[in-house]
Amino acid sequence: KQHIERQQILDSLRLDRDQLRCVMRKMEAEMQRGLARDTHATASVRMLPTYVRSTPDGTEWGDFLALDLGGTNFRVLLVRVRSGKRRNVEMHNKIYTIPQEITQGTGEELFDHIVHCIADFLEYMGMKGAALPLGFTFSFPCHQNSLDQGILLNWTKGFKATGCEGEDVVALLKDAIHRMEVCDFDLDVVAVVNDTVGTMMTCGYEDPRCEVGLIVGTGTNACYMEEMRNLELVEGDEGRMCVNMEWGAFGDDGALDDFCTPFDRAVDESSTNPGKQRFEKMISGMYLGEIVRNVLLDFTAKGLLFRGKLSERLKTRGIFETKFLSQIESDRLALRQVRSILQHLGLTSSTCDDSILVKEVCSVVARRAAQLCGAGLAAVVERIRQNRGLQNLSVTVGVDGTLYKLHPHFSAIMRETLRDLAPQCDVTLLQSEDGSGKGAALITAVACRMRGSRK
Ligand code: BG6
Ligand code: GLC
Repeated sequence: KQHIERQQILDSLRLDRDQLRCVMRKMEAEMQRGLARDTHATASVRMLPTYVRSTPDGTEWGDFLALDLGGTNFRVLLVRVRSGKRRNVEMHNKIYTIPQEITQGTGEELFDHIVHCIADFLEYMGMKGAALPLGFTFSFPCHQNSLDQGILLNWTKGFKATGCEGEDVVALLKDAIHRMEVCDFDLDVVAVVNDTVGTMMTCGYEDPRCEVGLIVGTGTNACYMEEMRNLELVEGDEGRMCVNMEWGAFGDDGALDDFCTPFDRAVDESSTNPGKQRFEKMISGMYLGEIVRNVLLDFTAKGLLFRGKLSERLKTRGIFETKFLSQIESDRLALRQVRSILQHLGLTSSTCDDSILVKEVCSVVARRAAQLCGAGLAAVVERIRQNRGLQNLSVTVGVDGTLYKLHPHFSAIMRETLRDLAPQCDVTLLQSEDGSGKGAALITAVACRMRGSRK
């Protein structure tokens, strides 16, 4: 009887083929609504123009600074691009932490900290006073009217620094430089780039068929090359432009309510942005562990786990980091090791059966995430195929993010879903090893060249 009760709860987190197909169709419809002039304002998937009009072609050249803000790590980078016959990119970077108080403090504190890190990096590289063009990977939804500007629409992923929403992040960065006591540098911000776009460009440097970027990390999102004629918000009909979908917000209008469980609702309600980023909250690393924890809480309260004993530890938010989810599901792991992970988390009263059940919960939650992500991606590649009037499309997706990289089954499940939902598309998933900063530098290189030729 207990077994049946457990399975019933887990079944609410399982999606069948029809449900996944339904997610794909709804995503297709939202993409269309986000692109069209009269429905754009109310679409949950924002489909933001990025002003990036081509993928790399190997002619990019020069030295650039790049910032990479919004994932697990904040990085400052120096990127030396030497293209030509033998493409060669040399990168130096330093990782800085952004303390949680700063992500939740004032915008001034946040941008002062960023500028402080840049100054430290220039000093470390022995480049004080250098004025290099800069590409800024800023992984949050931004409205752009040009490449070198990005108005933050709203924070996501737990950031909530005040006074930034509605502001141009380039201006916020410049203001912070001017606030510095000894200001011995200025920044020439040439491009503001979403991490999906940076990733697509990083991978596009190796594979010219890369026309989609995907992130499955702290948050989740995708971008792809759309036909200009379909981008009703931007003048001109010729060629293509990369669109930052901001698909994490899919479902904010209730489109996913049929698939939402009480566990998803609990995670949403205790987040910094309730009601927002509903798709992201079912998929990405920042939230999956919390879904698992809520399922375990429910099991325990019903006497189906941990001998019915609710520990303080299990009641603590955030104890299940993504890396634990990945570890627990690793095939090489014996149950004894699952148990030791649980013990490490402070969940000491676990039995062998408990370990089996916890592993099953992790697996069901991660599987649903990978399938939802696959359904979203199926909508994207199908749209590209139809845009080009092709019977079959062959396309590469550049992918980055800790969850995707560390989880032992995520990519295989996503592939399986894609094959099922978009059989006319032959999709290669190319894992990015170099981060999005390289792509941001490549975009900056092209923009600098165009700027030069306009002068
Ligand atoms: C990094 C990219 O490799 O991956 C970042 O350089 C991106 O731009 C990040 O935001 C996403 O993954 P995570 O897991 O760090 O959020
Ligand atoms: C969040 C951000 C988005 C970013 C994604 C992955 O969804 O809103 O801009 O691309 O996380 O980092």
